[in-house]
Amino acid sequence: MSATIIDGKAYAAGLRARIADAVKDLGQRGVRPGLAVVLVGEDPASQIYVRSKARLTVEAGMASFEHVLPASTREAELLALVAKLNADPTVDGILVQLPLPKQIDAQKVIEAIDPAKDVDGFHPINAGRLMTGVPGFVSCTPLGCLLLIRSVRRDLAGLDAVVVGRSNIVGKPMAQLLLSQSCTVTIAHSKTHDLRAVCRRADILVAAVGRPEMVRGDWIKPGAIVIDVGINRVPNPSAGEGKTKVVGDVAYGEAARIASAITPVPGGVGPMTIACLLRNTLEAACLRRG
Ligand code: GUN
Repeated sequence: MSATIIDGKAYAAGLRARIADAVKDLGQRGVRPGLAVVLVGEDPASQIYVRSKARLTVEAGMASFEHVLPASTREAELLALVAKLNADPTVDGILVQLPLPKQIDAQKVIEAIDPAKDVDGFHPINAGRLMTGVPGFVSCTPLGCLLLIRSVRRDLAGLDAVVVGRSNIVGKPMAQLLLSQSCTVTIAHSKTHDLRAVCRRADILVAAVGRPEMVRGDWIKPGAIVIDVGINRVPNPSAGEGKTKVVGDVAYGEAARIASAITPVPGGVGPMTIACLLRNTLEAACLRRG
């Protein structure tokens, strides 16, 4: 069997186009959704993410407010900026790019964001809403994963889902979303016994561990849907000395021979994160002033 390749890049482009249409409609009522992105420090990967977020926000017709602060920024200064953005009526969504420098308590910053502007869905109020099945903002990467899963299979009720990784950003909300679809959900992690056997039970396998190609072909149940959240940069000596390439948490070539559907890396989950961020920002704008 050869798996269907789930084209996250194309799905995300379609989603962004639909969001841009809705933004246009809102504009006719005098509302322009605004997203504020805060970057502290000079982490190169974060700089790339923030730049693409800003570009795609503007492409969708929304206002983008970028705040770049030095790595030496004190926690109180960042909290003061968050308070200012909370009070700014032109800002519908606030995203503080993680990770933050050591001197700043990230949880404190997340909790300072107005839950109505928390388009990342990281605030405990929104995490709690997801857990209790109440509408709220859902973390963008797991939301994107669910949209991709449902693009190949609409009804997930009763399926065995295994999420490898227990982060607050991906693993835990992913598990909650799959539970909301009536899957039987297992969260596996670094201390799980016989991870291979646990993964082999999965009709839906979501890998979010940050370890290059850890999930091998023989970890996958024949016909499973495999979602690879990993973005790992590894050496690529065949392309020349010092060259690198990006791989996922799943050994793609092996897995694609066993799965029924699989996301590639790059071009799978990655583009969905920003598209879902824009979707959340549009929703925030509609709820606040639509
Ligand atoms: N760093 C890596 N992914 C994310 C994300 O989705 N949101 C924020 N705020 N920071 C991140």
